[in-house]
Amino acid sequence: MEKMERNDFGVSRRLRAWYEENRRDLPWRATRSPYLIWVSEIILQQTRVDQGLAYYLRFVGRFPDVASLAAADEDEVLRYWQGLGYYSRARNLRAAAIDVMTRFGGVFPKRYEDVRSLKGVGEYTAAAIVSFAWNEPKAVVDGNVYRVLARLFAVETPIDTGEGKRLFAALAADVMDPREAATHNQAIMELGALVCSPRDPSCDACPLVTDCLAHAVGRERAFPVKRGRVKRRSRFFLYLYIIYKGRTWLRRREPGDIWAGLYEFPMVETERAVAEEEVATRPEARALVGEGFRIVATRMGVKHVLSHQDLFLSFLKIEITEPTPALKAYLETPVDALPSFAMPQPLHQYCSREGREGREKVSKG
Ligand code: ADE
Repeated sequence: MEKMERNDFGVSRRLRAWYEENRRDLPWRATRSPYLIWVSEIILQQTRVDQGLAYYLRFVGRFPDVASLAAADEDEVLRYWQGLGYYSRARNLRAAAIDVMTRFGGVFPKRYEDVRSLKGVGEYTAAAIVSFAWNEPKAVVDGNVYRVLARLFAVETPIDTGEGKRLFAALAADVMDPREAATHNQAIMELGALVCSPRDPSCDACPLVTDCLAHAVGRERAFPVKRGRVKRRSRFFLYLYIIYKGRTWLRRREPGDIWAGLYEFPMVETERAVAEEEVATRPEARALVGEGFRIVATRMGVKHVLSHQDLFLSFLKIEITEPTPALKAYLETPVDALPSFAMPQPLHQYCSREGREGREKVSKG
């Protein structure tokens, strides 16, 4: 974003001019009552404008001010909310009305922090109330605003991260002309609702089309970016628990991958799951075990879930007739010493189980 653009509020000016021509006439826009604005914003968190309108008119018809809402039975308030869902929001609304009566002497608070302190009022709602009612220079950031700003500045930072939230709060404040907070905030949300829609933005009708970086590169739909769930990766590890005269082989995992610095058995990573019949015929495995090997036991496809990877671990317990040259690259150790090596959890588990079974055999034997 150019400094010039920030400081002359051209974006804000173009937005507001567009808004004055294209705005929908909605009852909460024709009032400066913080109470009515508050009620409308809580209802609009639940539902779209067309449905919310009927609820709003009924609700404020029955509870026209803070005092009437605070004095009402919770059951009656809930009846007026019937069908909107999230009834805790209606309960919070009434609880906050009572709070305004007691803590603020029945006068709706004016300071952002006081408004924010009311039950059920978050950053967005508090900014909406103080800007719409008193033109306080607090920028609103809701889903519409994220979308408009993400496209305007082609922001690659995901909106669903702490960094994204901070960045968008700063951008929203930067583009807003602080003298025109009320109109600007309505305008940017209205643009998001009517023009800069999620799937099919009407860029031809947009007052910011020449400012919009996403439009300039034809990537409107790529913004906003969401981190969402990171794509998971599946990996297949074939472990060889090689035994020769009570000894086995290990290596230490390299930095730059999972389990760096931990010890593991000789391992072959494969592109896909390897069937039990074919494991020992893989060339990498053959080089390690040589000719006269005997598979003592197998444990196949044990799933181990990490934050971004699903590991499928197979274990082959193999007795060999003599150590192969390939094993020179590994650390040779007595099987009994395995518990003293730091190993990834599923290998540790495997070794404990092997150790236990080994001891059972001995005691039975
Ligand atoms: N959605 C949330 N707040 C709104 C408002 N003030 N006008 C229109 N839609 C909205």
